[in-house]
Amino acid sequence: MSTPNKFSAQLTEDGKLRHLLRLEGLSREFITHLLDRAESYQRPAGDTPARDTILQGHTVANLFFEPSTRTRASFELAAKRLSADVLNLDVNMSSRIKGESLLDTIYTLQAMQVDIFVVRDASAGIPDFISSNVQSQVSVLNAGESDVAHPTQGLLDLLTIRQNKQTLDGLTVTIIGDIAHSRVARSVSRGLTIMGDNEIRLVAPQGLTPDMGNYPGAQFTHDINAAIEGADVVMALRIQRERIKEKSSLMTNHEYLQYFGLTEERIALAKPDAIIMHPGPMNRDVEIAGAVADGPQSVITQQVRNGLAIRMAVLAAVMESR
Ligand code: CP
Repeated sequence: MSTPNKFSAQLTEDGKLRHLLRLEGLSREFITHLLDRAESYQRPAGDTPARDTILQGHTVANLFFEPSTRTRASFELAAKRLSADVLNLDVNMSSRIKGESLLDTIYTLQAMQVDIFVVRDASAGIPDFISSNVQSQVSVLNAGESDVAHPTQGLLDLLTIRQNKQTLDGLTVTIIGDIAHSRVARSVSRGLTIMGDNEIRLVAPQGLTPDMGNYPGAQFTHDINAAIEGADVVMALRIQRERIKEKSSLMTNHEYLQYFGLTEERIALAKPDAIIMHPGPMNRDVEIAGAVADGPQSVITQQVRNGLAIRMAVLAAVMESR
């Protein structure tokens, strides 16, 4: 068995991306480089997707211990389009079910020469824990960690905002929903703080108020209409029922749409050219009205498209740190 090594920091000594565990610690210049690189992998709809051979001969293992559609599919496609061998471990059929520890699972796959682990887990600290125990040539990418971090989601959100607003500075960004349990809100807020002087307004119902220590520089309110007023970007989040023990206090879907949902009336309070975002998975007519999700200001499909390009950029960046 390997022992923890000294290579578990995100960046190498010469500033290359060894692991992607969180956005904290990345510079504005480095994030800009990742966004630019992601754009270099984008092609117009109808064209064949961009391909590269940078991961040829290397192996990427997707370990998703929580459900996912967007992140898992896009990491798989991203790795294949960069010419990697890709392993999607079916965790429900793996030997962890028979009691094998997480680290023994990692060591087993590492022995098969996996180069990059893409990890989603419901527990905080798992990506860090794995990254401090893998061999020096192996990288770990955080694909969603409890309510703590979802760095590639943060990057794809930044790219989507930049493409629509031509800047990541001086914007008013309103994030509405279950902020208390949201790794998405934490990562995009952190990214916006790194990239510029942005006003971040967080809105949640009573009982889902976040620990504002996780949101340096952001404002919090329960007043959704005031928070949307004059915003450049409005993002809706779903209620993370799987992380809430006491569900009896939650509003019904109908009440939620009425009091905290993103409706056509509410988005009219934002700037006329405001964009509407949602990381998915989306509960239509709960946190966002179907007409808003499909409306002219919605960039939700663009977020999904950008997710694939961002994951290609991140995979390529960690390959260059070797
Ligand atoms: N936004 C996001 O992480 O979606 P998935 O859970 O489908 O990956």
